[in-house]
Amino acid sequence: MYAQMVKSDVGQDDPARLAAFQARIDAGEKIEPKDWMPEGYRKTLIRQIGQHAHSEIVGQLPEGNWITRAPSLERKAILLAKVQDEAGHGRYLYCAAETLGVSRDALTEMLIDGRMKYSSIFNYPTLTWADMGAVGWLVDGAAIMNQVPLQRTSFGPYARAMIRVCKEESFHQRQGFDIMMKMAKGTAAQKKMAQDALNRFWFPSLMMFGPSDKDSVHSAQSMAWKIKMNTNDELRQKFVDQTVPQAAYLGLTVPDDTIAWNAAKGGYDFAEPDWSEFFDVLKGNGPCNSERIAARRKAWEDGAWVRAGMLAHAEKKKARKMAAE
Ligand code: 3HC
Repeated sequence: MYAQMVKSDVGQDDPARLAAFQARIDAGEKIEPKDWMPEGYRKTLIRQIGQHAHSEIVGQLPEGNWITRAPSLERKAILLAKVQDEAGHGRYLYCAAETLGVSRDALTEMLIDGRMKYSSIFNYPTLTWADMGAVGWLVDGAAIMNQVPLQRTSFGPYARAMIRVCKEESFHQRQGFDIMMKMAKGTAAQKKMAQDALNRFWFPSLMMFGPSDKDSVHSAQSMAWKIKMNTNDELRQKFVDQTVPQAAYLGLTVPDDTIAWNAAKGGYDFAEPDWSEFFDVLKGNGPCNSERIAARRKAWEDGAWVRAGMLAHAEKKKARKMAAE
């Protein structure tokens, strides 16, 4: 589906060029936009970076829902800063994708018409203020687990964007955990709200790492190209091992009574998410899919006049400059 967007490159199937390219990847070199790259590498980057960018932007919606209802001015300011950061993350990533020959307009059209995805987690509703804690703690926590290795990814602009994103993401996770701490140590009603948020966000957060390795269609090639540095299950395991003790510290119970420390593997055994639910949400049947896409479509359509005005202004400026030369 991306073929019409990316410039086809000469020598795509030239074995010598492919071998030389793979040798650069294996040597840990960074691939820059102007370097030769196999079309499959370019298309995979557009798919992953584009969907990553979409996730950042759509991810603002569940939290934006609570900015006007934050319990204090301080919490409102913190949440506002976080949501604003996510817009910046989306921008870095769209800019990285544009270096591969695809426009932000094309990526946005593909999001809105369903040809591109965003992280399934954002199709779940945020029902209480405790959800702001659970989203920061679990969703941003999972995003950090997934994004830290991407600072070493082979494509230069993506790796550099991740370095900036990861610095800000750790603030996002900490502010979420701080909300959960306040509520878990608060009144009985607040602790109940925090437990309810953990119950609703635990398994959808595990889904953020992608399907289990046996069902991951892209992992093998993406890891050979160092577009992906770990498998889905590896990162999911790391996330569970980090998060279960945090839940215990909060005095909350992870909604999985199979969780148990496995000394032999040095990690927790845990129940897999309901993958039929995951694939159903990917098909558009999650609680908030249509609401999220409707919001993105409205923002895109409402902003058309701004884009047209800026383009007209840029054209006029360019014409004036050419006339003066
Ligand atoms: N939500 C939606 N789709 C998902 C998904 C999820 N959680 N996990 C996997 N998928 C999709 C894949 O995109 C792929 O579909 P496609 O071919 O149409 O793109 C299909 O399921 C098969 O999955 P694979 O494991 O084969 O796909 P990948 O190798 O691309 O792995 C990934 C999926 C781990 C999400 C990988 O793409 C990745 O690491 N992406 C970069 C990080 C990212 O996008 N994170 C999203 C969250 S960002 C965020 O949360 C913002 C934070 O500020 C809160």
